[in-house]
Amino acid sequence: MSDKYLTIALGKGRLARQAIALFEKIGISCESINDKTTRKLIFTDEENRIRFFLAKAPDVPTYVEYGAADIGIVGEDTILEEGRNIYEVLDLGFGKCRMCVCGPESAKKYLSGGGQIRVASKYPNIASDYFFNKKHQTVEIIKLNGSIELAPIVGLSEVIVDIVETGSTLKENGLVVLEEVVPLSARVVVNHVSMKMNNERINDLIRSLKGAL
Ligand code: PRP
Repeated sequence: MSDKYLTIALGKGRLARQAIALFEKIGISCESINDKTTRKLIFTDEENRIRFFLAKAPDVPTYVEYGAADIGIVGEDTILEEGRNIYEVLDLGFGKCRMCVCGPESAKKYLSGGGQIRVASKYPNIASDYFFNKKHQTVEIIKLNGSIELAPIVGLSEVIVDIVETGSTLKENGLVVLEEVVPLSARVVVNHVSMKMNNERINDLIRSLKGAL
């Protein structure tokens, strides 16, 4: 086996925990990576010459594009929003959810009317692509950083573009899905140069992950 470490970036949070469990299933694991109290950011599996690091999800495609990580595991929402030059090689099938246009039932009329409305989102690129390029509707996109469901309730925007998983956040706040933008799940992404230089090793790893799904 090569002495070079293969570096894998994981988007912090629920997806990282599921990804770690999947790697454990194929015999790749690192001491203390599951320790919730640790502030460590890098974990190494010496035997398999693999190291993992945890990063904020939107930074994972950046690390992979620049080759600081050979491989990344991150949600399709982040991949679409960041628009980085990376290979998307595998749909892991977990972390399934949907990117949707949501709002109060009464906001439905704004989506067929073609009028200028305000759209709040943590995903301004996905939201503009959907409204401008797919729906050909001119809207004002307002970037927020979380608790997006607040926006139509307090009158910041008519609708939102956000992730819907169970639908309970919408329900508890009197909002509904008005349109679906795109289905989402966790993906494996790879750096272009790493894919060429470490082709066999990366393909073996991808095959093993696929087999363990
Ligand atoms: C996400 C998303 C919704 C919620 C959807 O928010 O932005 O608010 O989860 O999940 P549900 O359909 O199962 O209710 P997250 O919890 O990541 O936090 P945020 O609002 O700070 O972005």
